[in-house]
Amino acid sequence: MGSSRENPLTRDELRGGLEDVRCRTLLLVQPLSRELLDRQHSALMSPIAWDLGHIAAFEDLWLVRKLGETSSEQEIERAFDAFQTPRSRRGELEIPDIEVLHERLLTTREAALEGLAAVDLGSPNPLLRGGFVYEMVRDHEAQHQETILQAVMLMEHELYTPARWEPFPNPDPGAPAAGFVRVPAGTFQMGDSSSGFAYDNERPGWDATTGEYEMGRYPVTNAEFIEFIAAGGYLDPRIWSPEGWHWKQEAGLVAPGGWVLRGDTAPPDAATAREASRGAGLSAWRRRSALGEADPLPLEPVMHLCYWEAEAFARFAGARLPTEIEWEKAASWDPDSGRSRSFPWGEEEPTSTRANLDQLRFGPAPIGSYADGRSAVGCWGMLGDTWEWTRSSFLPYEGFLAFPYSEYSDVFFGHEYRVLRGGSWATRPTVARCSFRNWDYPIRRQIFSGIRLARDV
Ligand code: AVJ
Ligand code: FE
Repeated sequence: MGSSRENPLTRDELRGGLEDVRCRTLLLVQPLSRELLDRQHSALMSPIAWDLGHIAAFEDLWLVRKLGETSSEQEIERAFDAFQTPRSRRGELEIPDIEVLHERLLTTREAALEGLAAVDLGSPNPLLRGGFVYEMVRDHEAQHQETILQAVMLMEHELYTPARWEPFPNPDPGAPAAGFVRVPAGTFQMGDSSSGFAYDNERPGWDATTGEYEMGRYPVTNAEFIEFIAAGGYLDPRIWSPEGWHWKQEAGLVAPGGWVLRGDTAPPDAATAREASRGAGLSAWRRRSALGEADPLPLEPVMHLCYWEAEAFARFAGARLPTEIEWEKAASWDPDSGRSRSFPWGEEEPTSTRANLDQLRFGPAPIGSYADGRSAVGCWGMLGDTWEWTRSSFLPYEGFLAFPYSEYSDVFFGHEYRVLRGGSWATRPTVARCSFRNWDYPIRRQIFSGIRLARDV
């Protein structure tokens, strides 16, 4: 009750949300030269300049050209339409100069704010009512910021110096030992039933039922993952699904993304990785990214794993990956009230002591650092740090209605995508909540993805 997500934002708050998200976009790209913005750093990601043009084009479509209309007849302009050109080919597009893109962002925003000043937020049009479309455009930009950071982290031979960097909080000395928390069987409210902004794929809210199960108290750490490498996890087909093993072989996976042996610049072969890990443990390894080289710390959640690696690790650990229902119940369900919370800790907005979100620290924090962010059943770090793979395919909830455009969720539903939950250190707080659903191909690991285990009792 009294959820912050129940009260519609005021006109000023909607404008403030747009301004805040734009400030962050500009802050993120500020350290990047024109050349680094234009270059396609990886076939998996767009040139960052494309994201900027796409952000402006999306805003132009929804807040300027289509404002007040309910049909989706007008289209986003071709060059910045995600469906016209796959990411791998966006390096070939004619993307305007960065000055032109900045000008475009600015003029579109001016027109959007003019519209906002005059729009009827009490309109019966569901796009306008309560400012839905303004929150949608704000969160679209917010999500592209995480995409931009994925591209930034893949800049192999460049150094990125964030314009702002905050230290981690100190781990809580009273944090319980790693292990599992028990979640009782029963029904809980899944998805979004609030009147606040949510994506179509979170709706409608529904009653989901689980048996009794156990959920990892923390995400899996580097110290736990090195045991898998040292035990020959990457060399043992018995713990991989056939599809996962096939991909592992093809892609030559030997360790989490970005890991190299100390003194090397590229990953070793799997046997060398195992021997080095047996001998020196985690200290055999370094982690490379655009932030430079660093030691993978033992208590940090392991990051940059694909679904197949997460699944193999779970089997190695005598556990399994949670379903997204199990994940959401462990994050949101409060056994005392019987209600589901918007955030693991309750209804208050995320802060820097509740979750490692918002691009403040450019990496996951040691487990046990966010006592204020515990869920009711006792899981830590459900929001922030790394996205957590679930075993669930990305499917609509019963009664799903695509709104306001089918290209957000509807066209992606199916078994080729797995759901990820919880958000990462690079996720903005407006798109982090218990019901938020992310999805990707099971082979992807340039995303900030990790593992939380589940177990039957
Ligand atoms: C929800 C992260 C899978 O990046 O494809 C951005 C978000 N949708 N623009 C994506 C999104 C439209 C989406 N993910
Ligand atoms: Fe987009």
